[in-house]
Amino acid sequence: MSRLIIVSNRVQPPTGEGGGNQGGLAVALSAALRESSGIWFGWSGEVAEQFTGHINLRRAFGVTTATVDLEEQDVDEYYNGYANRTLWPLFHYRVDLAEFESGFAEGYERVNRRFAETLQPLVEEDDLIWVHDYHMFPLGRFLRDRGVRNRMGFFLHIPWPPYRLLMSLPDHRELVETLFAYDVVGFQTQDSLEAFHDYVVHEMGGTVEEDGRVVVGDRSVLARACPIGIDTDNFLEAARSPAAKDAYDRMRESANGRDMIVGVDRLDYSKGLQERFLGYERLLQQEEGLHGRLFLLQIAPPSRGDVQSYQEIRAGLDSLSGRINGAYADAEWVPIRYVNRGYPRDRLAGIYRAARIGLVTPLRDGMNLVAKEYIAAQDPEDPGVLILSRFAGAAEQLSDALLINPHSPEDIADAIQKALAMPLAERKARWRACMDSVEQQDVMWWRRCFLSALAGEEECSQADAA
Ligand code: G6P
Repeated sequence: MSRLIIVSNRVQPPTGEGGGNQGGLAVALSAALRESSGIWFGWSGEVAEQFTGHINLRRAFGVTTATVDLEEQDVDEYYNGYANRTLWPLFHYRVDLAEFESGFAEGYERVNRRFAETLQPLVEEDDLIWVHDYHMFPLGRFLRDRGVRNRMGFFLHIPWPPYRLLMSLPDHRELVETLFAYDVVGFQTQDSLEAFHDYVVHEMGGTVEEDGRVVVGDRSVLARACPIGIDTDNFLEAARSPAAKDAYDRMRESANGRDMIVGVDRLDYSKGLQERFLGYERLLQQEEGLHGRLFLLQIAPPSRGDVQSYQEIRAGLDSLSGRINGAYADAEWVPIRYVNRGYPRDRLAGIYRAARIGLVTPLRDGMNLVAKEYIAAQDPEDPGVLILSRFAGAAEQLSDALLINPHSPEDIADAIQKALAMPLAERKARWRACMDSVEQQDVMWWRRCFLSALAGEEECSQADAA
């Protein structure tokens, strides 16, 4: 078995046996690293006075991490700048929020070169290299320039935008060309894969072969859709833990017989939180009979607080939740419980199970694992209902959820009513269909699906992934 090197902007070393309270992705990647005695390389999250390229090697719970500090200017231009003010909004169809600064692009390139320079001496002959997400598109190119000949793959966790949208990125073509340095490129959905094909065919004059290879001139790359899943077994275990049980009991008690709707999202404009609140408000306007009988628990830990658009969405949500609560609350009932902090995974599992409805309404999302976690946490004998945006990657697999248009308050309000009235038999049937996908296409399946393609084996077919 080849050694695996995983590269991502954020490195999450394991925090305990069996993953502790790591997210599903980190659990899956850690398991792969443990099996192959691999290395996880990336930014430490720390800022140094000057970039030195010094690698901090650590080993915890069988996983080796190798991290480097970045300079303040690097963080501003690469992470807050090009990654989160240019690529993130554009790839989430928010060209109105995208900022095109040449300094950001330069910083992004500089940091990726620095990562390549630092990583290259660690690479041994048979290693497989797996690069993750939009922070690192050109890393593979820079490693190739430094003579790295290993098999290299790239997986994009966010959506790939439609061809015409991508054209608004200065140097879009250079960015796409860097992907041809990899052997395999993976996307979350068929939709993203097709958008990538469109770009290559229309802008680069390329072709798409039957086996999934995308060819431009004498270069080619295998492009696949491999939807990421959750670590279902591990999550089910967390859901059975005393902490989950305790969170469930407390939630039920504090709900006091009311129906709970739950949303859990990073505080990000792509998550459609304002639209969600407006949909819920519309329901309250329409249905006075529901006042005092249900509430929305929105958990939204703040994120990327140095970026202005995130400061604005936060202020917008503070004011919207305040307005709705001000208009509808009475002495014994508050319609929205809006919480700006995160919860450990085991407690979240208990909270999901206590909720009659999971409300997952991103305007765009690469996948959305909250939707899958909500399904996994349900009581099979009395499951809640998942209301899911059509524009979350997860909707390709969870097509038995109540799919809605997240831009439409009417759609959201109607879906909540439908979910509240849904008979048990229908809830069970929809849940079972969703759970089949959550069980079969879990994060281990995803990892095998990608790594087998990277290793040149054929383990999961495109049909499996659809
Ligand atoms: C998304 C991205 C990840 C990123 C995460 C948290 O899921 O796809 O690459 O790590 O958001 O964002 P942050 O900027 O805090 O790392």
